[in-house]
Amino acid sequence: MVDTSGTAAEFALNDFHYQVLHGPDVDEEQLKACAILFSKNYGVWAANVPAPLKPGARVRMSAAKLRQECMPDLDNSCLSLCFLHGELVGHACATKWLYDEGCAGWITQLVVDARYRRRHVATEMIRMLKRHPWFKDVTIMGIASSHPAACNALCNLFDGKVREIDLAFIKQHAASVLGCSTPRFLKNAPVRGAFLGIPGGSYSADTSFFVDHAEPLEILQTYVAEEKWPFGELLDGHEFLVLLSVPEGSCCVEQA
Ligand SMILES: CC(C)(COP(=O)(O)OP(=O)(O)OC[C@H]1O[C@@H](n2cnc3c(N)ncnc32)[C@H](O)[C@@H]1OP(=O)(O)O)[C@@H](O)C(=O)NCCC(=O)NCCS
Repeated sequence: MVDTSGTAAEFALNDFHYQVLHGPDVDEEQLKACAILFSKNYGVWAANVPAPLKPGARVRMSAAKLRQECMPDLDNSCLSLCFLHGELVGHACATKWLYDEGCAGWITQLVVDARYRRRHVATEMIRMLKRHPWFKDVTIMGIASSHPAACNALCNLFDGKVREIDLAFIKQHAASVLGCSTPRFLKNAPVRGAFLGIPGGSYSADTSFFVDHAEPLEILQTYVAEEKWPFGELLDGHEFLVLLSVPEGSCCVEQA
């Protein structure tokens, strides 16, 4: 369930303006604007959410929680923003940590104003990260999400198709990438399904995030019907794990 109550502004696709900020450059006002956007547009709690959270109530976020949970290591974090006529209409938080010979980069939060979805805003905010020096040492990019479009937006990073994603790569790295992650909600999330070798199991982790799945499940059905979904079914409190290998030289920033 999303808040589409506001009136959408008249716009053309090239009216969207994108910007990426390095963690230490993000100020309190910008974080507050992201927290408001999230609280209005993210979703509602599921029927089985544990108390004191209330089923059907909006999933909310404060600026302080956003920084703490999604950008825990500020120097290694980034915030990708999208504006329409000066109004914030989308944000993607990203952070990274040492992994293997490089860094694992992770989209820790992704939300687009419900009035402006399906215009590749999420895709473009993630792609913009490639133009920031933050991306230089990133060798793997990942996301944990119950929303097929969020997984799809990450797959668009290198113009790959969701159905062609390298599942063997995800299986090989998921548990160890999460194991050395800095955001607590990822570090403590056990991998499930296919990662435990369960035949037909989904590529997911138990993040115990009980957001209502009505919208993602509806969208998932369309992906499944079009045979575009390789990650399996969506279970309560779980999120899909998508990891991509980042080809060398993907960062668009000129090397010094
Ligand atoms: C998930 C979310 C961020 C996607 O934002 P968006 O700007 O609409 O995404 P994009 O337009 O970049 O779409 C990415 C892909 O998903 C597809 N998609 C998006 N919404 C879709 C829908 N409702 N049904 C089917 N496909 C959809 C797009 O067509 C696109 O695929 P393509 O490149 O093959 O055409 C947005 O729906 C949202 O904010 N949802 C609520 C919060 C949430 O669940 N966030 C994810 C948590 S990490």
